Amino acid sequence: MSIQENYWQQSLCAESRPQPNLLVVFGASGDLARRKLLPALFQLFRRGLLHEHSYIIGCARSDVKQSRFFDGFLEFLPEEEPEQIEIFQRRLSYVQLDYDEQAGYERLAEHIDALQSQIGRQLNHLFYLATPATLYAQIVPRLHSSGLSQEVYSGKPWRHVVLEKPFGSDLESAENLDRMLHKSLHERQIYRIDHYLGKETVQNILMLRFANIVFEPLWNSNFIEHVQITAAESVGLEQRAGYYDGAGQLRDMFQNHMLAMLSLVAMEPPAQFEPEAMRDEQLKLMRAIRPLPINEIDKYLLRAQYTAGSKDGLSLPAYLEEENVPPDSKTETYVAAKLFIDNWRWRGVPFYLRSGKRLSRKLSEIAITFKKPPHSIFAQLDMDSLKENQLVLNVQPEEGMSLAIQAKQPGSKLCMGSLNLEFSYAKQFGAQIPDAYERLLLDCMLGDQTLFIRSDVIAEAWKLLTPVLQAWQKSDSLKQYDCPCALQYYQAGSEGPEAAVQMFAGWRPLRATKG
Ligand code: BG6
Repeated sequence: MSIQENYWQQSLCAESRPQPNLLVVFGASGDLARRKLLPALFQLFRRGLLHEHSYIIGCARSDVKQSRFFDGFLEFLPEEEPEQIEIFQRRLSYVQLDYDEQAGYERLAEHIDALQSQIGRQLNHLFYLATPATLYAQIVPRLHSSGLSQEVYSGKPWRHVVLEKPFGSDLESAENLDRMLHKSLHERQIYRIDHYLGKETVQNILMLRFANIVFEPLWNSNFIEHVQITAAESVGLEQRAGYYDGAGQLRDMFQNHMLAMLSLVAMEPPAQFEPEAMRDEQLKLMRAIRPLPINEIDKYLLRAQYTAGSKDGLSLPAYLEEENVPPDSKTETYVAAKLFIDNWRWRGVPFYLRSGKRLSRKLSEIAITFKKPPHSIFAQLDMDSLKENQLVLNVQPEEGMSLAIQAKQPGSKLCMGSLNLEFSYAKQFGAQIPDAYERLLLDCMLGDQTLFIRSDVIAEAWKLLTPVLQAWQKSDSLKQYDCPCALQYYQAGSEGPEAAVQMFAGWRPLRATKG
């Protein structure tokens, strides 16, 4: 690499350092804050990306002493760096408040004022709502009435509010949530997180498509046979039955992560890599997805729940035997879908999406299968024996990509076989891939909404899925167990339900690679 290339590379790869800001984390004693947010903030601090005048305030209902609040997340920070942790801790403080009591917000405002006077400057504020979504309607209006989320003029200093999914549970509730948010916040202040967009490998979809010339000319229905998007997990509920049983897989993974991956794979190139251009293209794509025909939904979308099974010799409970799951729950833990995108580029190309819990392994990937060459010049090889090229983007756990091509193998003149051209993030860049929350928190602090979801994109996703949810609810309440949308079953630890194979026999096996 020349000196100039090296300089160019370094400046592209250098992260921008945010202005000083104040991060207020609501739900600070919860799992998300302890497992993801504070460790991600610590990593940003270690990387020198948390300004020396940036502070973190944890807010929660628990009436704990500040020191007990720190203890709650220490176990999630790297043990080998006690000095760094010590310095990081000095940036943290805790304010107890009840989310529905205005007085708590006034106390928070006083705490912030005191902090700002102490350092002699006004800080940007980032309010991270790591609470159940049901509390948004209590917190957001009170942040506004206490003046905390109000911007003085044109966003300087800014006030950003970060929200975690679920963004509603159907179209109507999502629209209600949106109306509530917009009563006190501008869209530019709202950062809706889909952590899949923070994953390096998901962002790489854009680089791969739009920073290379080799793929894009082939990226359409003339050359692509089908696309498969998978997000499989081997874990079950992880003590989240209270939330999950009311949500199910369609709301928990499909409405957001799966459709987010689909939108990056299928959208048109934005004119620029900037928030509105990106999100406009995502919106157009979502609008082009063909509505699902409810009367013959089993041909396009199916839901299933896991029964007892086993993995690596260990028995696994059925969903209905998991802690706090109602014994007659019809909640789906697996969804597979066949979607079509009715636009010039994709007309006729099926997109197969599947996502489930308690499957044989954890695997998220996007596999693009190209069409076969139009004719085989190799006399002994008929068209059926010729294999398709397949590009696989491995989102996790073995981040990377591979391209399967046909190539000559040593042996007879016609000895041909599939060869995998592979690229692995771990081999190329070492094992250290930043967590998605590091990327997203940094972007919130930089005021960059490119990787955050706009409200109209969410509404389109709900428009697609709400009729399905309604049909499921109706068939369950009428106890119609033989209708096209009836719940199917699969064994825990397996590859998924048999019905998914009837929808599409060509699913890539989850166990195709080790892990
Ligand atoms: C979350 C879902 O959004 O994503 C969880 O609520 C799921 O149910 C998780 O386990 C999967 O994320 P990842 O990054 O482990 O694939």
